[in-house]
Amino acid sequence: MQDWQRSVIYQIYPKSFHSHAGNATGDLLGIVAKLDYLQWLGVDYLWITPFLRSPQRDNGYDISDYYAVDPSYGSMADCELLIAEAGKRGIKLMLDIVVNHTSIEHVWFQQARSSLDNPYRDFYIWRDQPNNWESKFGGSAWEYEAQTGQYYLHLFDHTQADLNWDNPKVRDEVFKMMRFWRDKGVGGFRLDVINLISKPADFPEDDSDGRRFYTDGPNVHEYLQQMHREVFEGHDLINVGEMSSTRLEHCIRYSNPQSKELSMTFNFHHLKVDYPNLQKWVRADFDFLQLKQILSDWQTGMQAGGGWNALFWCNHDQPRVVSRFGHDGEYRELSAKMLGTALHFLQGTPFVYQGEELGMTNPGFESIEQYRDVETLNIFRLKREAGVNDVDNMAAIMQKSRDNGRTPMHWHAGHNAGFSRGEPWIGVPANAAQINVAHQLHDPDSVLHHYRRLIALRRSEALICDGVYRQLLPEHPQIWAYLREGEGERLLVVNNFYGGPCDVELPPVIDETQAQRLLISNYPDCPLRTRHLRLRPYESFVVHLTDP
Ligand code: GLC
Repeated sequence: MQDWQRSVIYQIYPKSFHSHAGNATGDLLGIVAKLDYLQWLGVDYLWITPFLRSPQRDNGYDISDYYAVDPSYGSMADCELLIAEAGKRGIKLMLDIVVNHTSIEHVWFQQARSSLDNPYRDFYIWRDQPNNWESKFGGSAWEYEAQTGQYYLHLFDHTQADLNWDNPKVRDEVFKMMRFWRDKGVGGFRLDVINLISKPADFPEDDSDGRRFYTDGPNVHEYLQQMHREVFEGHDLINVGEMSSTRLEHCIRYSNPQSKELSMTFNFHHLKVDYPNLQKWVRADFDFLQLKQILSDWQTGMQAGGGWNALFWCNHDQPRVVSRFGHDGEYRELSAKMLGTALHFLQGTPFVYQGEELGMTNPGFESIEQYRDVETLNIFRLKREAGVNDVDNMAAIMQKSRDNGRTPMHWHAGHNAGFSRGEPWIGVPANAAQINVAHQLHDPDSVLHHYRRLIALRRSEALICDGVYRQLLPEHPQIWAYLREGEGERLLVVNNFYGGPCDVELPPVIDETQAQRLLISNYPDCPLRTRHLRLRPYESFVVHLTDP
C-alpha cells in the first residue's frame, strides 16, 4: 500500500462553503478561513469543485478560462494563499479539471464557431446532421450553429461544447494546462466525466440515448496513459476520475497502477438504486439489497483486479445521504453515523462531502422557484411540456435534484448559518439552527465527532486499507454486514439500515475465543458481541477480532 491509500478526501463546493467577502456565493478566502476546522477533522486532501473562470451556467463545470480564477471566487493570489495555508496544515488541494467540454464562451469555441476553416474548428465536434443522441441534461445532444451551418456536440448543456480529444492539439493544450496547475503546487486532480472523452468516429444512431457508444470510448485508455506520461509521472499527485455509467473492467484498468492511468475512480451504480428502470426523475424508495450487492461486487471486483475505489455517498450532484438511505427525522444522528461507518470500512479512498459530517439533510424546497440547478430547471420544463403534472414533477425534484446537496454549509445557528453576511444564492435549510458545526463541535456524541473518529481509524487500523472484503448475510433485507480479513485477525462491520430492531444470527465468524476490540459504534453501551445479535434502530458497530 502507498501512503496516499490511507488518506481521506474532503469535498468542497466553494459556492456554498463559506463567503469571506459576505456575498451571495462562497469564495476561496472563505475556505482559507475554515482550514483549521478541516485540519481538526483530520482530512488529507481537499477536492474543490471548479473555481476557474466560467459563466456559471453549470456552476463552474462550464469553464471559459483554465488559467484564471473566476472573480466571484477571488484571485490567483487567493488560490496561491489557499494552497500554501492548506500545505502548512498537511492538507493538499485537488483541482477539478473539466476537459470533456468547455463553455461556449471559451476563446477556443469562440474561434471555432467563427468559420469552417478556423484553426480551432477541429477543437470541437461538428456534424452537418445531428444523430439521435441525447444530452444528459435533457433534449438533443446537438446544437445548431447558424453562422457556419453545422451542429456541435454537447453531452451536457448546450453551453458546454464537447472537446475533440482525437485532435492531438487538444490533448497538448489540456496537458499543458494541467502542468501549469501541478507546478502551482496542487496535490492532484479530479477529472470530470473523464471516461466520456473518446467518441466513436462514426457517431452511430442509438435505440437509447447514445451513452453506450461514448462511455469508456475507443481511445480513452490511450489518452489517459498519455496524460499520465505528460502530467503525472515522477510527481506526487493523486488523481480520481469521475466515471459516468462505467463498467468494472474499465475501472480496474483506469486505476490499476500497472496501467499508468489514474489513482482511483468514482462510479455511480450504487447511487442509482432509487432510479426505477434507470429513470432518475421519478420519486422512488431505494432498493437495499441492490445497494449492498453493487457495493460488494465493486469491493470484490476491484480488489481482485488490482483497482482502487473512490468511496462516497454524497457529492454536489447527489441528494443528502441521510435523507436518501437513512432517516432524516428522529433517527437522523444514528442513521448518519451508521452510513458513515458502513462506507468508511470499505476498501478505497473515502470522500466526505461538506455537511455530510454533520448529517445535513435535503432542504425540502417545495417550489421550483427555490431551485437553481440547470439540470433541474431543464427537466422541470421538459416534463411540464410533456404533460407531467406539477405535483409529480416536484415530488421527483424534491427527492432527486442536485440542489439538495448544494445548500450553504451550516457553520452555526446564527444569520445565514454563518455562510455569509449577504443574501445566499440559494436558500439556507430551516434545520440549520439545529444541525451545525458550532453545536456539534461541543458534543462528543455528535455525527461530526463520529466522522472524525472514522477518519482517524483509517490511519491507525491497517485492515481498513488492505483487509480482504467478504460480505455476510447477502440476502438479509435489513442488515449490511461484512468482514475485512487479514492473517489471524479481521474486522467485523455490522449495520442496521432500518428503524426497526432486528434479531440476527451471524455465520460462525465470531466466538468467545477471540479477543474483541470495539473500534466504533453509534450507541453508547457496547456489550461483548456474539453471533446472536439484537440490533437496535440503525445500530452499527465495528469490532476488531484476533484469533487465539
Ligand atoms: C460532472 C459534474 C457535474 C457536471 C457535469 C458536467 O458530472 O460533477 O456537476 O454538471 O459533470 O460537467
